[in-house]
Amino acid sequence: MRILSGIQPSGKLHIGNYFGMMRPALELAQKGEAFYFIADYHALTSIANPDELRQNVLDVALDFLACGLDPEKTVLYRQSDVPQVTELTWILSNVTPLPMLENAHSYKDKIAQGLKPNAGLFTYPVLMAADILIVQGERVPVGKDQKQHLEIARDIAGAFNRQYGEVFVVPEADIRPDVATLPGIDGRKMSKSYNNTIEIFGDDKAAKKKVMGILTDSQPVEAPKKDLENNIPLQIYKVVASADKARELEAKLAAGGFGYGEAKKELLAALTDYFAPSRAKRAELVKNLDYVHEVLQKGAARANAVAGETMAKVRRAVGLK
Ligand code: ADP
Ligand code: TRP
Repeated sequence: MRILSGIQPSGKLHIGNYFGMMRPALELAQKGEAFYFIADYHALTSIANPDELRQNVLDVALDFLACGLDPEKTVLYRQSDVPQVTELTWILSNVTPLPMLENAHSYKDKIAQGLKPNAGLFTYPVLMAADILIVQGERVPVGKDQKQHLEIARDIAGAFNRQYGEVFVVPEADIRPDVATLPGIDGRKMSKSYNNTIEIFGDDKAAKKKVMGILTDSQPVEAPKKDLENNIPLQIYKVVASADKARELEAKLAAGGFGYGEAKKELLAALTDYFAPSRAKRAELVKNLDYVHEVLQKGAARANAVAGETMAKVRRAVGLK
């Protein structure tokens, strides 16, 4: 089974990215041949500073390796090291109906957030389809916010195959229902664009401030907490801690006499424990950036070989060869 996913180098890795995409992707990588890439072409839609982009790309590579990606088994590469993907984007644009792009939520959201409506932002889902189809990805682990992009990729693959014959595997999204959308500290989806994230490799003080600042209702310490469904510290705790530990915390909140402050302290401790090994590994990797660059180079070579095979088929199918 071929697995593919990508993450934009557009800011610091947060626990929403980790539990929604990175951990499922790393687990799935055990079950097949995985291709994970750093979507730097995509990041041009939001980052205009070249040094920042270069630094962010390196950060994502470090994050993946620190969180356990095994470069002997999984192909890790930088999107722009496979420039054929832009050629495929152009070819796929010609089987992509305009209304499909006009209806993309992510485009509408980004415009609503104040990004300029340029052509890159608009055609973003076609580039994403090309990323997947160029390596013939069958399963794509992502968070729920990418669901529509995956549907667009499937539609584009289908449209191409109908017009030119069966060239592409039609990919499937792999979305974990339990962490499909992790809430941020204000209760909205955790996202870099809402400034409500808890970072994994940031400084300890900032993480503490974020965790202690998580939005809760104003029930007093003594009160048994009723609405545990919508309790943000508990929701986050559930993805970090074991099922037993999560039940314990839930019981303490439900019993009363246990305040949100204490729940947040437990959450902070759980997060610190959970990410301690990855943080230690990242600190080591930073001292050996040559190794990281080497991993990316090897990944690029492997991804290029696969992309080259797909593009030869595509060019033949459409009549460019
Ligand atoms: P952000 O919204 O912070 O900009 P990205 O769009 O870069 O995050 O997302 C990278 C990956 O992480 C995607 O697969 C996305 O679905 C996943 N992801 C992001 N935020 C969350 C979240 N709050 N819960 C679950 N998955 C998430
Ligand atoms: N759009 C994805 C995001 O913002 C990143 C991405 C780009 C991606 N190309 C992809 C994810 C291909 C999966 C497959 O998170």
